Amino acid sequence: MSHLNIAILGFGTVGKGVHYSIKSHQARLEQVLGKSVNVVAILVKNLEKHEQSREDGVLLTTNFEEILNIGELDVIVDAIVGCEPGHTYLTQALEKGIHVVTANKEMFAHHGEELLALAKKNDVTVGFEATVAGGVPVIQTLRQLLQVNRVRKVEGILNGTSNFILSSMRKDGHTFEKTLRAAQENGYAEADPSNDIEGYDAYYKGVVLSQLIFGEKPEEQSTIRKGITDITADYVESADELGLRFRHIVTLFKGQKGVQCKVEPVLISTEHPFYQVDGVQNAVSIETDLVGNVQLQGPGAGMYPTASAILEDIIQISRPVNSEPAYVVYQEEAANSSKWVLFN
Ligand code: NDP
Ligand code: HSE
Repeated sequence: MSHLNIAILGFGTVGKGVHYSIKSHQARLEQVLGKSVNVVAILVKNLEKHEQSREDGVLLTTNFEEILNIGELDVIVDAIVGCEPGHTYLTQALEKGIHVVTANKEMFAHHGEELLALAKKNDVTVGFEATVAGGVPVIQTLRQLLQVNRVRKVEGILNGTSNFILSSMRKDGHTFEKTLRAAQENGYAEADPSNDIEGYDAYYKGVVLSQLIFGEKPEEQSTIRKGITDITADYVESADELGLRFRHIVTLFKGQKGVQCKVEPVLISTEHPFYQVDGVQNAVSIETDLVGNVQLQGPGAGMYPTASAILEDIIQISRPVNSEPAYVVYQEEAANSSKWVLFN
């Protein structure tokens, strides 16, 4: 059987999730792709932290050049943090004709357009499902809808950490600080959690959606970006007594002066579709001209939901042309579901 060779940049929550999921779902990947998926290299920043994760046949390195020099590398998965060095590494990978899949929404919000153009030039693909809403297939769904629909407006809870904090303060009566610590321990929050709680992370996701839907970034002058740092447990409790809930919501629509983007905490009542969206969940409501309103909801952060989105991209990129759709394989495997074991 032939192989699909993968390198993972970053071995934190997301990088580990991808590695473990490739192992746990190898049989299924082989069925869908007709080849085995091999992680051949992992890039980290601090080698000593990862000595125990060393595996035979997997290059563990701090040097990206070594990864680029691997012969027959098919896909590079970007699970590192911030614009650089991710942008430079992915540029080099695309120039070398290697497909890339990224979860790095900050980098992709700034450089997505440029990377997609470079990929096109080099006849390779950039997968970016994991940049928005974790495991919820928002990008794939929008691509489907956009084939015929005009998208009028999108509203979304796009930061799992913020939603986790707001719901935990209400349900458990914990302080902001305590719930933020829990979000960090669970791997939901970014290395620098100010990106989550000050609204930057949700804004970057809004930028990715704006470029996909409207072909342009939000208009900067009118953009509102607020986080949840002013929302205390007392505010949440007072709102709850009135039957209201705080949600951190991104709103995008095309106005006369370009794409309007608001990222802010909003008080919503029971009628709002996001009222019941608690915990690390994300939700997206898409208003279109033909189909009307489409809503998606699911885990917006964390190891395995994000790995799921990344593996979906890897499959999209690597599935043989004219192969059977994945759901046919799934039906066959469902009868044998005891094979499906997740690594812990
Ligand atoms: P972590 O902080 O858990 O892990 C980051 C990893 O990147 C670490 O292994 C770190 O190495 C490595 N790294 C950082 N800088 C460098 C560098 N300059 N060179 C080489 N390696 C580097 O982050 P996450 O796994 O949580 O997130 C990874 C990416 O995925 C981020 O862009 C994030 O925004 C995005 N994302 C995260 C989600 C989540 O739920 N956590 C969900 C969706 C997207 P070392 O371990 O040696 O320090
Ligand atoms: N820190 C991000 C969040 C991870 O909490 O939503 C998923 O992008």
